[in-house]
Amino acid sequence: MKDTFYITTPIYYPSGKFHIGTAYTTVLADSLKKLNQLKNKDTYLLTGTDEHGQKIQQVAMKNGKEPKEYVDEMADMAKKLWKTMEIEYNDFIQTTEKRHEVIVQKVFERLLAQGDIYKGKYEGMYCVPCETYFTETQLVNGKCPDCGRDVIKMEEEAYFFNMKKYADRLLEYYETHPDFIKPEYHKTEMINNFIKPGLEDLCVTRTKFDWGIPVLSDPKHVVYVWLDALLNYITALGYLSEDDTLLKKYWPANVQIVGKDIARFHLIYWPIFLMALNLPLPKTILVHNWIVMKDGKMSKSKGNVIYPETLVERYGLDATRYFLLREMPVNQDGIFSPEAFIERYNFDLCNDLSNLVNRTVSMVNKYFDGKVPENQTHANPIDEQFEKEAQNQIIQFEEKIENFEIADSLKEIWQLIARTNKYIDETAPWQLAKEQETEKLASSMYHLIEYIRKIAILISPFMKDTAQNIFNQIGIKDKKLQMWDTLKTNIKLENIQVIPQGEPIFMRLKADEEIEYLKNIMKGN
Ligand code: MSP
Repeated sequence: MKDTFYITTPIYYPSGKFHIGTAYTTVLADSLKKLNQLKNKDTYLLTGTDEHGQKIQQVAMKNGKEPKEYVDEMADMAKKLWKTMEIEYNDFIQTTEKRHEVIVQKVFERLLAQGDIYKGKYEGMYCVPCETYFTETQLVNGKCPDCGRDVIKMEEEAYFFNMKKYADRLLEYYETHPDFIKPEYHKTEMINNFIKPGLEDLCVTRTKFDWGIPVLSDPKHVVYVWLDALLNYITALGYLSEDDTLLKKYWPANVQIVGKDIARFHLIYWPIFLMALNLPLPKTILVHNWIVMKDGKMSKSKGNVIYPETLVERYGLDATRYFLLREMPVNQDGIFSPEAFIERYNFDLCNDLSNLVNRTVSMVNKYFDGKVPENQTHANPIDEQFEKEAQNQIIQFEEKIENFEIADSLKEIWQLIARTNKYIDETAPWQLAKEQETEKLASSMYHLIEYIRKIAILISPFMKDTAQNIFNQIGIKDKKLQMWDTLKTNIKLENIQVIPQGEPIFMRLKADEEIEYLKNIMKGN
């Protein structure tokens, strides 16, 4: 049986059009899925929409729609976007689906019966858009600490989850599972800001609105949206249902990806709920930063929003995916700017990658009638040095990606591209041709094609079409030669014929014009 790899994205609030920031998580999740597929693993990717709560009810009303009608339309919109972004999800869960709702009800009753949930009274400051209660001390200048908006005082009879009971177990889990939280600094933040000061019990029901899952034994209460939403990761796999084959196969998840704003829910509440249910915890929860603009968060009112469709339509999917993944550092936000986008396009994609492939295909045509020399000879001492350094780059890439340092792992691939470009200058094939050094020339062409093949494999999880385009140009048709396990050694390139006339994969853009174009789009023109 193959190893399995289960990846989840957060389920999205269907409260408006998704901008490039929202698309980041999903592109990342999809890339990790494709990477693990290449490694021959049985992968499963879950995404979906988080459809209950007062905010959604209000947005639906504002749009003159029934909540269910509204959320279904929004879920379709999300699916359409994921299709455009070529996100290969295995399941898309909506929290208003029966398969989810009935299990959330079952879970609630179970937690109630075993004493983890108890009935009490809640009084506190509530942020409607965030659907979160805060204590007075958590407020920042009297406003919501998460979104900065006004909060209102609310009181209600409510059910609580006994978080305190699990605090020590959670701390111990953090300490004994170094891979559980990535990057690690989020662990320190959770411990210092939330766990050490003392975990408060969590209010897990609401009575102020009814757009939620009713508690079976007390239906005037609906389940708190976060308890409802977090459970999607297991209800989608059939937890507590008649058929839990998927759960048995894929749980615990290998990696659950979340943005930094929802880290607390996933790093504290989620593992505690799982402990209460006696289920194993995910292997890694990967927290990422945000894509922001030079002047801060993206917002329509600031006139600085950019939607993924805009970039995909004009510059192609792969350039869009590349930019998002490449521009997000591990420990700070990634910045989108038209200048940076066009620069990455012109330099990384066009100058570095596209030119490397194009020059090489032309040379193989010119010197060997398009037929790639078969063998890995070291006719030239430069070849051996190149191989050593290039293989080392691949190792560097693997180390970074294993640790989910995505932008840095892409950087390593581009170092390999730069090293391969340098190899052309070092071997100077045009000179070798002139001097009729046929063996050296053959070895140079072999090495170029072999390392371009490896580069195509490395980029394929992130930029599938570009990788296929490269394989096609260099004549690598056999799928086996496109797999991960062929990266470690150099292979014999038997009967490989490059295409007669290489088309550039990326054409240089007129920077000024494109920057102007993007600026106008962002202003909403
Ligand atoms: N519904 C909750 C998640 C529940 S999971 C059980 C939610 N939804 S959301 O639509 O607001 O956000 C979905 C994801 O998009 C979150 O991980 C969030 O961090 C991410 N992003 C939203 N804006 C973002 C950027 N500007 N940049 C990167 N990610 C961003 O939270």
